[in-house]
Amino acid sequence: MNDIAFQRCIHPQCGATVDLLDTHFQCPKCGSLLDVAYDWDKLPVPKKLQDLEAKWSDRANPLNFSGVWRFRELFPFAPEASIMTIGEGQTLCQKADPVAEYVGLKPGKLYLQYEGMNPSGSFKDNGMTAAFTHAGMTGAKRAACASTGNTSASLAIYCAATNLMRAVIFIGSGKISYGKLSQALEHGALTIQIAGDFDDALRRVQEVSRQLGIYLVNSINPFRLEGQKSVMFRVLEALRWEVPDWIVVPGGNLGNTSAFGKAFAELVDLGLIARPPRIAVINAAGADTFYQLYERNGVRWNGGATLDPKVGVYLKYLDDANKRADTLASAIEINRPVNLPKALRALERCGGCVREVTDQEILDAKAKIGAGGLGCEPASAASVAGLQKLVREGVISSDDRVVCILTAHLLKDPTATVAYHSSDPKMFDDVLGKRGVRRAGFANRAVQVPNDLAEIVKAIELYA
Ligand code: F0G
Repeated sequence: MNDIAFQRCIHPQCGATVDLLDTHFQCPKCGSLLDVAYDWDKLPVPKKLQDLEAKWSDRANPLNFSGVWRFRELFPFAPEASIMTIGEGQTLCQKADPVAEYVGLKPGKLYLQYEGMNPSGSFKDNGMTAAFTHAGMTGAKRAACASTGNTSASLAIYCAATNLMRAVIFIGSGKISYGKLSQALEHGALTIQIAGDFDDALRRVQEVSRQLGIYLVNSINPFRLEGQKSVMFRVLEALRWEVPDWIVVPGGNLGNTSAFGKAFAELVDLGLIARPPRIAVINAAGADTFYQLYERNGVRWNGGATLDPKVGVYLKYLDDANKRADTLASAIEINRPVNLPKALRALERCGGCVREVTDQEILDAKAKIGAGGLGCEPASAASVAGLQKLVREGVISSDDRVVCILTAHLLKDPTATVAYHSSDPKMFDDVLGKRGVRRAGFANRAVQVPNDLAEIVKAIELYA
């Protein structure tokens, strides 16, 4: 057993430890989730976060070029020779005053952390490079995931770019966007479309991986979350190592929420920051299990005591009523978040809250983000829509410094965007109207002009 980096049950009263190279991703004693844990006393931890900036001067080294691995001292589970990077994590944390005005924050107070710049176009690459590295350390030859589209695109790219593993992806029928499906197909993943939704696909991929010994890269895999911690390291770096007041993040399977909470807890414990930011998790209203449990049923982590029985009752209600997740933000169309306990722990450690936003609120926020110069997919915009709600409620003050995570690129899922801006009422209705979206308040409609020079000139003079 490696006594410097290992896996450990998240429940303090169990605390079972598991070998670093084990791939079951479940506590053998109590069945709970696992963390990657470190004996920090035996490791060279940076004295201050600024020390990590020296890596910038050595960008010819792929490990220092990676926006994930240049922080590797803060998740030191892999020998350098085992690390598999494709240059992920070159992302942007941009001040966004027009969006700040939209949500009710003062100028200079809102930052958008844009993860659409990753090689596969979403934040998933932060976690995939870490899981993929661990997979390589275990000698895996096949890796699998269930996905609403971004995890599968990321896995497909890592497999294709490194040619080290075969990607096996499970997607539900119907909802995956073409942008994401095209990535899985183009990059050569074995794509298995099952009759069911993401929650069904996730249950199946776990069974299949166990039976066939395939390495699982869903966020139940704690190594994924180690890589995703780096999103927060980059945010802190962009803010000159000052901790913001709030991080606002869309919640699906709650991997990001869990990873961010762990990152901040570790930074506080290591004495590298004085306090964590608060975390607001935003569900889509059609996929709001976390909101229901946390805000409506008062479910809490409670220092890791046995999971509140209300969770089981609520999930059984979903099953009995055959209540399926349903939102235009298909990336977060998830009703059974696997990382629920870790997300509860994150909110206990950092403080924070959960909100839900409608598809209408998501699409309006998305159009405002786009008009401000960053293109994101619907799920990402849930963060900004949720922030607007929290400012209106007075939970977040107009003076607070806030970072919203834009989890993926606009081109991942253009269907809703095109329908939102369309001047064709039938198109609007087919995609959005029938799903309860009533207006496109910030639509930028194409101007219809005859193929005639004078008319074209007239239209430009009129509108531009
Ligand atoms: N935003 C985007 C664009 C996503 O693709 C996802 C999750 C989330 C937010 C939610 O993140 O699970 O960490 O709470 N997509 C997964 C997938 C489920 O399969 O691509 P989370």
